[in-house]
Amino acid sequence: MKKIVVFLGIAIFMTMAGTSVAQDAEAAEEAATYKGSKKCKMCHKDQYNIWLESPHATAFDKLEEADQAKEDCVACHVMGKVDGSVEHAEPGVGCESCHNPGSKYAAKGVMSKKTFKADPEGSKENWYTLGLVKPTEENCVACHNEKSPNFEGFDFDKYMAKIRHWDLDELEAAETPATEETVK
Ligand code: HEC
Ligand code: HEC
Ligand code: HEC
Ligand code: HEC
Repeated sequence: MKKIVVFLGIAIFMTMAGTSVAQDAEAAEEAATYKGSKKCKMCHKDQYNIWLESPHATAFDKLEEADQAKEDCVACHVMGKVDGSVEHAEPGVGCESCHNPGSKYAAKGVMSKKTFKADPEGSKENWYTLGLVKPTEENCVACHNEKSPNFEGFDFDKYMAKIRHWDLDELEAAETPATEETVK
């Protein structure tokens, strides 16, 4: 009898331990969440200001009020739509619509001037491991496709030029960037 109790006790302990290990792994694997474009603005003001003037920032406002309640429309006009409803993390196509949810890679002390300065290549590698995305054509055509009732076709190079907010030094040298409505 005593043996059985001990055996049972061990079995229960092992089950519990197993569960807790599984839960820890689950927590570690938990999907990153959206922080919002204002979070990115803290350190990427120039990129933010360019984005603010792009149609992406106001994509939700372009929808008629009735359409803002339609799941079929909201899908590509907001950031981080919660599947099966019209709930979303942010109206419009925000930074993380293209660069992925930032709770991990843009966490405090992970993506910062300090970490970057200390180890540029190592920091970058870490950010991409934590989910940062360098968007490609594949990301764009998730929304720029025939499911859009207003689809006007998609020319990658042409469309990329219109949203350019990278290699800003080169851009500045070539032309004055569109940042009239700058945020102070
Ligand atoms: C606390 C400051 C800080 C915050 C907040 C922050 N970043 Fe960064 N980020 C940096 C620094 C510093 C770099 C490296 C220098 C640079 O490229 O400007 C960088 C680089 C990047 C890069 C370029 C990576 C590469 O391969 O060159 C992307 C893309 C990026 N950040 C996106 C974002 C997005 C999206 C957010 C919001 C979710 C965000 N960042 C929030 C500081 C920050
Ligand atoms: C598959 C993604 C997707 C869905 C779903 C979608 N849209 Fe769009 N919408 C886009 C894209 C991308 C554009 C930009 C047009 C382009 O360049 O092709 C756009 C542009 C628009 C515009 C602006 C047109 C302009 O001339 O500025 C309106 C208004 C609009 N959509 C309304 C809607 C409505 C209403 C629905 C639902 C019936 C809807 N969209 C569903 C992706 C989508
Ligand atoms: C519509 C998609 C899209 C949105 C929205 C977007 N980006 Fe980007 N971002 C890109 C692409 C594409 C690149 C260029 C990747 C490459 O170099 O090939 C890029 C590059 C960058 C870089 C690298 C800059 C450099 O000089 O190398 C930073 C930083 C960045 N984005 C920050 C942001 C921030 C902050 C926001 C929001 C204010 C934002 N992005 C919104 C698509 C997007
Ligand atoms: C989450 C959905 C989504 C993604 C991802 C996305 N877009 Fe868009 N894009 C839109 C919507 C919606 C509009 C229309 C906004 C409006 O008219 O207000 C738009 C408009 C545009 C426009 C303006 C088109 C015009 O007629 O002037 C350009 C340029 C553009 N997108 C480029 C890109 C590029 C390049 C990428 C990939 C790096 C990309 N987009 C990724 C949803 C998206």
